[in-house]
Amino acid sequence: MKSIKFAVVAGALALGLAACSGGGAGSSSGSGDESADPSDQTIGVAMPTETSERWIADGNAVKSQLEDAGYTVDLQYAADDIPTQSQQIDQMITKGVDLLIVASIDGTALANQLQAAADAGIPVIAYDRLINGTENVDFYVTFDNYNVGVQQATSLLVGLGLMNADGSEGTATGPFNVELFAGSLDDNNAHFFFQGAMDTLQPFIDDGTIVVKSGQTDIEQVATLRWLQETAQKRMEDLLTSSYSDGSKVDGVLSPYDGISRGIITALQNAGYGDSIEAGLPIVTGQDAEIASVKLINDGVQFSTIFKDTRKLAEQAVTSAESFLQGDEPEANDTETYDNGVKVVPSYLLESDIVYQDNIQSLLIDSGYWTEDQVASGQA
Ligand code: BGC
Repeated sequence: MKSIKFAVVAGALALGLAACSGGGAGSSSGSGDESADPSDQTIGVAMPTETSERWIADGNAVKSQLEDAGYTVDLQYAADDIPTQSQQIDQMITKGVDLLIVASIDGTALANQLQAAADAGIPVIAYDRLINGTENVDFYVTFDNYNVGVQQATSLLVGLGLMNADGSEGTATGPFNVELFAGSLDDNNAHFFFQGAMDTLQPFIDDGTIVVKSGQTDIEQVATLRWLQETAQKRMEDLLTSSYSDGSKVDGVLSPYDGISRGIITALQNAGYGDSIEAGLPIVTGQDAEIASVKLINDGVQFSTIFKDTRKLAEQAVTSAESFLQGDEPEANDTETYDNGVKVVPSYLLESDIVYQDNIQSLLIDSGYWTEDQVASGQA
């Protein structure tokens, strides 16, 4: 079964490549040379939004690494507006870019654009978020998104004392009241994060150690459209009113992204939970190691986040882009997981790390991701 699946993927990739190398070269300033000079080639980079720091870091890293390699870069942000992103990609195709790197807003909304890209022989790399419902996505660079969810839930268990950071059983017994949040349903990653988290939490829910008082455990009930902080804050306020006005307290919140975490924390602080975990705030998880949240972790307010090194993801995108532009096949390390509804997209997955207060130094400062001053001020 495995080998059949692999053969299908390899075949699809080979087809995609055959289509790309011919047309891609044809579209590169008319050079007609398959291994055209990078200085003749333009890469279109479509990013979702500048309201979240991680995408700014991703955009900057991809742009500067491509420019260092000699390419011209057309980098566009779409303010989380789906028609804007579609238009930006349309324009890139019309202008004749040689390759597209796309972090989608709605992973199901780009099939027309990607068909136009395929017709023009432009290879497409999905960046961090899978693009669904089209055969015209040639490669996917991302993190191990299921494992990100496992790590989020693990850090929640550690914060509650049910597990130790080394994975051994903790001394706490519960029961603990936990509420769950997920990301935007149109982002394929949100499903992977939630699945990984729920597979980890389910045994604790089943034996009553963790209680979800609201009863909201389906992704449709706990999702946060566009990952918005305000939307999460409002839902947390509503949960406190609907499920905790009997004097019971929330002990932990599974949050899939730092912006959502900050909305949740604000709601809890406004409801009198105190200013820090020590003063009574629940354990709140996160993702992305955004500087505002790293400061909160350092200050004992947010419990954890997941660090995904965007510099490494950018590097992987650039390496994969170069392979396509040289008529080669990018190296995949996963050819089974990411089925976009039409095909399994060959992928390169990177690993992520859980950040706690006591490893901010080793993970984020020593690696040069953030400086000590940035962590202290909470400003990038
Ligand atoms: C990314 C996360 C990010 C979220 C919100 C997801 O697709 O993988 O890193 O937190 O989008 O921007």
